[in-house]
Amino acid sequence: MCESVARMDQRPSSRLSGFYRQTLEQRLLTVAGWAGLDDADLTALRAGLSVEQADHLVENALGLFALPLGLGVNFLVNGRNYLIPMAVEEPSVIAAVSNAARLARAGGGFTAGSSEPVMIGQVQLLEVPDPAQAEQAILAARPRLAALIDPLHPSIVRAGGGFRGVEVRHLPDTPAGPMLIVHLLLDCRDAMGANAVNTAAEAAAPLLEALSGGRARLRILSNLSDRRLAWASCQIPVRAFAGDGVEGAPVAAGIAEANAFAWADPYRAATHNKGIMNGIDPLAIATGNDWRALEAGAHAYAARDGHYRALTDWRVVAGDDGEPALAGRIELPLAVGIVGGVTRVHPAAQVALKILGVATARELAEVMAAVGLAQNLSALRALAAEGIQAGHMALHARHVALAAGAPAGLVEQVAAQLIAEGQIRVARAAEILAGGMMNDER
Ligand code: MEV
Repeated sequence: MCESVARMDQRPSSRLSGFYRQTLEQRLLTVAGWAGLDDADLTALRAGLSVEQADHLVENALGLFALPLGLGVNFLVNGRNYLIPMAVEEPSVIAAVSNAARLARAGGGFTAGSSEPVMIGQVQLLEVPDPAQAEQAILAARPRLAALIDPLHPSIVRAGGGFRGVEVRHLPDTPAGPMLIVHLLLDCRDAMGANAVNTAAEAAAPLLEALSGGRARLRILSNLSDRRLAWASCQIPVRAFAGDGVEGAPVAAGIAEANAFAWADPYRAATHNKGIMNGIDPLAIATGNDWRALEAGAHAYAARDGHYRALTDWRVVAGDDGEPALAGRIELPLAVGIVGGVTRVHPAAQVALKILGVATARELAEVMAAVGLAQNLSALRALAAEGIQAGHMALHARHVALAAGAPAGLVEQVAAQLIAEGQIRVARAAEILAGGMMNDER
C-alpha cells in the first residue's frame, strides 16, 4: 500500500546557482525556459486572480489580498528535479529552503513516499441502543455502503479511487453521552476530496442510522487524514555542513540536539513544527490547496501518541561510505489535490502546478513532505549554528524600509544603512528617508 510515485526526470537540473541574483524579469525568463511556460502563463503569474473571479470564490468580496510568489530552487526528490512555487510573505523562508535543498543534494537529495490518498469521513451516531451489535451490523454492511457511495463519485471511481472500507469507533464517555463514530474511507485519487467525502458521509448517514438504531448528527471529513500520509528522508554527509571556519560535526550534532528538544518539549515542538509548515503552507497556497486543513492534520498527527512532538527526526548516523552523516525524516498527513477546487479556478495556481510538474496528488504530497523537511533543516541548522537572526536581518531590514515608505529604488540602500547602524526600526528608516541622515554616524 505504501510506496513512492517516483518517475523519470527529463527536466534540467533545479540547482539554479545565483538565481536570487537575477532580476525579477530574468527569473521569469529562466523559469519559463525551465518549465516550458508560455506568455499566457507569465501573464497569469503577474495578474493572478481577478476581482471578478474573487467575487465568485467568496461571499461579500471586496477585492484581492496579494502575497509574494517566489521559487524554492535546488530540489531533488526521488531523483527528479523540482522547482517549488511558494506563496509567502515571510522573509528568509525561500532562501532558507533553497539552501537546505542544495545541502541535501550532497547526499543525493530526498527520498519520498506516500500512502494511497484515502480520506476519512466521519458520521457521529448518538443514542445507539446496543453499540456492539451496531458495530457488527455496520461492518457487515460494507458492500451496501460501497454500492451507495461509489455511484456518487463517478470521476473518482473512473480514476481508480472510490470507497475503501468502513470502521467503527466507540466513544463511551463524552459530555453528551456515549457515541458510535463511523469512519468511511474514500480513496480520492488526485482530488483533495473534501466535497466527495462530505457527500458520502451525508448520503450514508440514513443507512447507518437504520443499521445502528441511533441518531446521526455530524457528517463531515476528518482533517486528521492519517490514511493519507506522505514522508520524506535525506542523508547528508556531515562534512557538507562545514564552512567559514566552522566544522560540520558540531553543526550536525547541534541539529540532532535541537530535534531531541522538540521531541521532548511541546513548547519547542510548536515552533519546530511551525518552521516545517513555513515550507508546506506556501506550496499549498501556491497550488490552490487548503493550508488550514494541512495545518490541522499536521498538528493533530504531531500529538498522536498523546504528547505533542516534533514531526521530524534528525540524528547523526554512519553514512554509506562509513563517514558520519546527518539523517532526517518527516512523516505527516498531506491531503492535497491537483484537480478541483481553487486549484482549477486560480490562474496562478495552474501555472504553479505547471512549474512543479507533478503528475498526481501523491507526487505533490511527496514533494511537499521534502519541502517541509528541508525547511526544518534550514531552521535547525541556523539555530544550532549562528542563530536565526543573522540570516533574517537583511530581509527584515528591507521590510522595515518598505514599511517606512521607501520607494523601490531606495529600499536596498536604506536597508543596508539600517544594518550597518545595527538598529532596524521603522522610525530610523523614516529618518533616513527624510534625508540628510544617510551619512549620520550615530
Ligand atoms: C520562524 O518562522 C520559524 C522558526 O522559528 C522555526 C524553528 O524555530 O525551528 C525559525
